[in-house]
Amino acid sequence: MPNDLPIDTRGRRMHDLRISVTDRCNFRCVYCMPKTVFGRDYPFLPRDEILSYEEIARVVRVFAAQGVAKVRLTGGEPLLRRDLHRLIALLAEIDGLELTLTTNGSALAARAAELKAAGLQRVTVSLDALDETIFRRMNDADYPVSGVLAGIETAAAVGLTPVKVNMVVKRGANDGEILPLARHFRGSGHILRFIEYMDVGNANRWRMDEVVPAAEVVRRIDAEFPLEPVDPNYGGEVAERWRYKDGAGEIGVIASVTQAFCADCTRVRLSTDGKLYTCLFATHGHDLRALLRRGAGDEAIAAAIAGIWTARDDHYSELRAAGVPVMKKIEMSYIGG
Ligand SMILES: C[S@@+](CC[C@H](N)C(=O)[O-])C[C@H]1O[C@@H](n2cnc3c(N)ncnc32)[C@H](O)[C@@H]1O
Ligand code: SF4
Repeated sequence: MPNDLPIDTRGRRMHDLRISVTDRCNFRCVYCMPKTVFGRDYPFLPRDEILSYEEIARVVRVFAAQGVAKVRLTGGEPLLRRDLHRLIALLAEIDGLELTLTTNGSALAARAAELKAAGLQRVTVSLDALDETIFRRMNDADYPVSGVLAGIETAAAVGLTPVKVNMVVKRGANDGEILPLARHFRGSGHILRFIEYMDVGNANRWRMDEVVPAAEVVRRIDAEFPLEPVDPNYGGEVAERWRYKDGAGEIGVIASVTQAFCADCTRVRLSTDGKLYTCLFATHGHDLRALLRRGAGDEAIAAAIAGIWTARDDHYSELRAAGVPVMKKIEMSYIGG
């Protein structure tokens, strides 16, 4: 790795870029875009404020030259953005980039083949319950479990593997689904990951007592299917890996609340309207779209990104653990989950 790549004030480098390609979604997950706040009508961005695919590809090239090696397209629901395979094809031209996508799975069965053909490498699919009533209550859009399961199987069939399946665990809402999901995906080749319910944004009215600690998830599964820890794939990996002792595959837990991983955080986020956020819990972003649309050259954009990263001091989850309150936060659908 070249030595002149930017390093932040805590010694961290930039490695993963998450891009929110749309702030819109067809689901209203209770922990992300609950109807209780805006109903179905969230204040979405007007079209001309959204980065075009060409603008996104241009900044990604600059990020790649600054050390970013992995790009995840997310949102909102990324598959709601028209012709997303066109963006994937543009990004696939950039050398050495790992290209992934996070989706609620509702359009995946129909789109997986074109995404793969365009150059997408892997997908992560969110699925919070197998029980029909609980899943529909979680997505609050009356969307059936079968649609997501079909998306997962199609993704695997076209080679977007290994498919990761993310379950956000909210106590009292879907924690009874931990074991049914574990049973379902054991032996499937897909990697099920349990995510602690996080205090992102303000809409979800997060409470600590609704978080199920990752350690409790591991204990509950281990009691039925004995588990053993697996070494991380790389330093800074957020998911803690476990495997079934009987060889039926692996699971992950993401303990973003109970075990802050700020110290190793190499993530940077680009919002739908082209603002750069150096933390999921940041209160403001840096406007790259203004630079792009003002006609700045690649060197000027690179210098701006390097300057922002070098000044970075974010460690919100450590502060939360220490009880320090935080002001208004940005919604996850906009900043990119
Ligand atoms: C914001 S979504 C965007 C992509 C896509 N719509 C989806 O649901 O996969 C990305 C991921 O963030 C997770 N997420 C959203 N709100 C969360 C919260 N409050 N705590 C933990 N994870 C959350 C979702 O479950 C999903 O796995
Ligand atoms: S988690 Fe994903 S699917 Fe659910 S509301 Fe948020 S963006 Fe939509």
